[in-house]
Parts: sequence; structure tokens; C-alpha cells
Amino acid sequence: MSRLVYVLNGPNLNLLGKRQPQIYGHTTLADVEARCRTLAGELGLELRFHQSNREYEIIDWVHEARETAGAIVINPAAFTHTSVAILDALNAFDAPVIEVHISNVHKREAFRHHSYVTLRADAVMAGFGTHGYELALRHAAHLIDAKQAAT
Ligand code: DQA
Repeated sequence: MSRLVYVLNGPNLNLLGKRQPQIYGHTTLADVEARCRTLAGELGLELRFHQSNREYEIIDWVHEARETAGAIVINPAAFTHTSVAILDALNAFDAPVIEVHISNVHKREAFRHHSYVTLRADAVMAGFGTHGYELALRHAAHLIDAKQAAT
């Protein structure tokens, strides 16, 4: 069972910390990555952390993860609400998928209430701020540990 976890981030998350801080907070994506790397070290996980504004790059990373990863943590950002292609890629990935949203999408505009990725996700975190990434990583480690114990 691989202890490699992909953390994938969709469009505009490169602007985290500067973009709509009243919704997404002041923490940057580099801060999120640093926190995730520290936690991954504690949990004995290896991490690949990526962000892209291009749908195909996210799909390519999911394909790459198929060969190597024990779990995917993904904040697809706006692609959450539009991308059948990312859903299809995740459906071709056999290990746990955890969907993360910094904001509570359910108390925002109606178009954010539907997620294609939720149709595949094993767990969904929304509204935990950037702390949600660390919670998701802990859950990924828990699922990987449980699978390892069962084999
Ligand atoms: C988001 C919520 C999405 O609706 C939005 O398009 C984003 C970020 C979040 O993390 O809260 O870009 O995924």
C-alpha cells in the first residue's frame, strides 16, 4: 500500500491569501503546502503537492497518481462544479479520494452546491478553512493505515 498522497489544487488557488480573503482567509498556498509537508512527515506520508489553472494538468496528475498513490486529496476549486472530465479521471483511480473546500460551499451561491467530484469522493471537507487540508491528510493516513492493517 503506497504512502504517497497527491494534494491537487484547481484554478485560482495560486492566489490564495490574496484572493477574496474574507472568504478564503490570508494563508497562502505555499503556507498550506508547508503545513501539509510537516504533517506528512509526522504521519509517515510522502507528498506530491500541485496547483494548476488548467483542467488537463489536474487530469494528468490524477492519471499519474493511478500508478503510484495511496490517496488523493483534491480541491478542484471551480472545476468542482463543472468538470465531468476530472470526475472521470478520479473514477479511474482505485484508492481513497478526499475532496476539500476551504469555504463552506453549501452556504454560498446555489451553483456551488453541486459537485461532480462528490460523486467519487470517499469524504468531503468544506468550511474548515485551510485547516481542512491537514484534516484531509490525517484522514488519508488513517485510511491508508486501515488498509495496510487489513492486508
Ligand atoms: C473552493 C470553492 C469553489 O466553489 C470555488 O470555485 C473555489 C474554491 C473552496 O476551496 O472553497 O475556487 O473550492
